[in-house]
Amino acid sequence: MTNDESEREKKNQRPLDKKQKIEDGTITSTATTIDGAAYKKSLYAARDDVDKLLIEKACGPIMVRLAWHDSGTYDIGLKDEAWPNAGGANASIRFKDENSHGANAGLINAIKLLETIKEQHPLVSYADLYQMASARAIEYTGGGPNLEIRYGRQDAPTSFGAEGNLPDGEARSNTNKFGGTSGSTSTEDTTAGGHLRKVFYRMGLNDEEIVALSGAHTLGRAYKDRSGQGQERTTVTDGTTIQKFANGTTASFHTGGSSWTENFFIFDNSYYTEVAHAVTEGDTKSSEELLKLSSDKAIFKDDHFRPYAMIFRNDLTAFYDSYKKAHKKLSELGAKFVVHDTDDAPLVLEGKNAFGQRRGSAVIKKSINMANELEK
Ligand code: HEM
Repeated sequence: MTNDESEREKKNQRPLDKKQKIEDGTITSTATTIDGAAYKKSLYAARDDVDKLLIEKACGPIMVRLAWHDSGTYDIGLKDEAWPNAGGANASIRFKDENSHGANAGLINAIKLLETIKEQHPLVSYADLYQMASARAIEYTGGGPNLEIRYGRQDAPTSFGAEGNLPDGEARSNTNKFGGTSGSTSTEDTTAGGHLRKVFYRMGLNDEEIVALSGAHTLGRAYKDRSGQGQERTTVTDGTTIQKFANGTTASFHTGGSSWTENFFIFDNSYYTEVAHAVTEGDTKSSEELLKLSSDKAIFKDDHFRPYAMIFRNDLTAFYDSYKKAHKKLSELGAKFVVHDTDDAPLVLEGKNAFGQRRGSAVIKKSINMANELEK
């Protein structure tokens, strides 16, 4: 270790790429140093701008998908290889090689939106920015639980090579199977549940975490011109139904696609109620206007997933508790934390006053009532 390096370590500083540009998958960087306190200040400022962006562009849901697809390449079987070869939350998705993977269709829009924030706050790593935008879509505009995620991630200098580590919602028409063999580990399976396990176990996640994370589909939509799933538009997404953020203000969103829930900017457990309608025999409440992929139905059909899905459908607080833990874990998969708070503590931001009401007792009561009705 040189004198400079040892000095930096004492001061809790680290080398950081000051300016990184997306240029056809190449990265230009200028090394500089920064301490934890300065980095944290930048994070707070970036968070304010992210919050504004989420409202102005009504782009929360795609941010959640972006962060998840960045994390979701992670292969725990590769964890002993040199970083960042195992994949994970390292912003490798910003490179064209990776964001052009079929599963990532459309995510370039989210990457471009966040580039404007990166320009304003160059110290903040892309990897942190992606996870921040996702967390704020849930806890701020979505009115969900505070996720208390950790910051200080380093950006990967290259894309994650293997395509095929993310899950399929439906079986492939050429093989009649879910997933394929092209990823870092095969995820191919004849059942949706088996495929989900192959994907999420590869990341080191378990059944409860699979079911909790699937609940993120309470937000957002699927599009014909991206994943090919759902409908061009529905009565929920065609602009005739007003969509609101958690504080009750109207979301000015681009129309189209199929949502899983009626209020697709609000983070609650309505996803489980809607999917339950679709898989419960004789239930006439299932809405054709709302999407249910085979992977969504699997969380109620699979014997090991169902107990969790039932709990989350019946109990918003239980869902929030479980979701929060699973999301935090997902956001840290394969991440290299190189900036720390004082005393080397993990860098976590103070909570901010909720943008809207927390989804309180009224919503819990409503979901329990709906669940009770279903049991009849
Ligand atoms: C369990 C396996 C999963 C499958 C098969 C799956 C599949 C999909 C598909 C097909 C879409 C539509 C994409 C489009 O057409 O633009 C989508 C959207 C979305 N996914 Fe998932 N997903 C899964 C898990 C997750 C997880 C774990 C999260 C987050 C924790 C998540 C968050 C989202 C969000 C928020 C959207 C909406 C994006 C938007 O509105 O632009 N998904 N997912």
